[in-house]
Amino acid sequence: MKDPAKFVDEALAAIRAAVPGKAIVAASGGIDSTAAAVLTHRALGDRARSLFVDTGLLRANEIALVQGFFAASQLPVTVVPAADRFLSTLDGVSDPEEKRRRIGTAFIRLFEEEADKFGADRLVQGTIAPDWIESGGSLRDTIKTHHNVGGVPKDSRLTLVEPLRDLYKDEVRMLSAHLGIPHPERQPFPGPGLAVRVAGPISRARVETARVANAIVEEEVEAAIAAGKLARPWQYFAVLLPVRTVGVMGDNRVYGEAVSVRIVESNDAMTGTAADPPVELRRRIAERITRTLSGSVTRVLYDITDKPPATIEWE
Ligand code: XMP
Repeated sequence: MKDPAKFVDEALAAIRAAVPGKAIVAASGGIDSTAAAVLTHRALGDRARSLFVDTGLLRANEIALVQGFFAASQLPVTVVPAADRFLSTLDGVSDPEEKRRRIGTAFIRLFEEEADKFGADRLVQGTIAPDWIESGGSLRDTIKTHHNVGGVPKDSRLTLVEPLRDLYKDEVRMLSAHLGIPHPERQPFPGPGLAVRVAGPISRARVETARVANAIVEEEVEAAIAAGKLARPWQYFAVLLPVRTVGVMGDNRVYGEAVSVRIVESNDAMTGTAADPPVELRRRIAERITRTLSGSVTRVLYDITDKPPATIEWE
């Protein structure tokens, strides 16, 4: 994309052509779907409705943060509460692809219901080129199924509209700046949320443990950034591992699970390097996680693997 103004003109025309009636927009709070939503509202006015789904798999504070971001982007977004439906469909599910499939289905069914209420038959998503390239196509083997790709089943009443399909991340950044969307001081967060930060079976309790561990990693990394001890990484998070591992509490041996902390430097998520954070930061994170989650987490590991060979997320 050489000229964002030209891209916007073409995208508005393409959205109007693709949506003869009304559309709902899946707004995740990320930069891609926010740009897609802003374009859609510009193209369709009150024939568009943007929705942010509370899946129960969000990070601590996430709803307030994204609402601030939407307001700063002058984007009207409705929050749809749906934690129970997501957590029940995932209960006991371990397989990462099955998690993504169930989340994808739950999103689509929810969007269908919301579309019916609004009288819409189009669903706008902020899919960009790396999403579908990594989800497998003619060129590459499937690496993982991004939940927001190919997620509309054949029997769905909704037709998908993807105005950013051909853009790469740096182009979306250029487009967002042009659209007046503020640069989010937030790291990317995957659509399936904490479901892919809970390795092994999902339960409400394990999601809550992962939520607390992720909040601690974020707080500590952000404090280190603010204190000038660390350059802002691309992503920093915790993953709860389904490992029964022993610790000591007083005179007793106690079993809990392990948490892996991952801090990654990257420009576009296609490749990445494991960061080498100061030892005090790693120690503080380990101490706070084991103290706050005493009884459920007995061990904290630091992931030193680059992408490739590993991916950024564990699942
Ligand atoms: P990986 O783990 O493939 O992640 O190196 C690359 C980037 O994508 C994010 N990610 C996802 N985002 N749905 C999403 O919307 C997904 O299923 C998904 N899996 C990974 C990941 O956080 C990183 O930024």
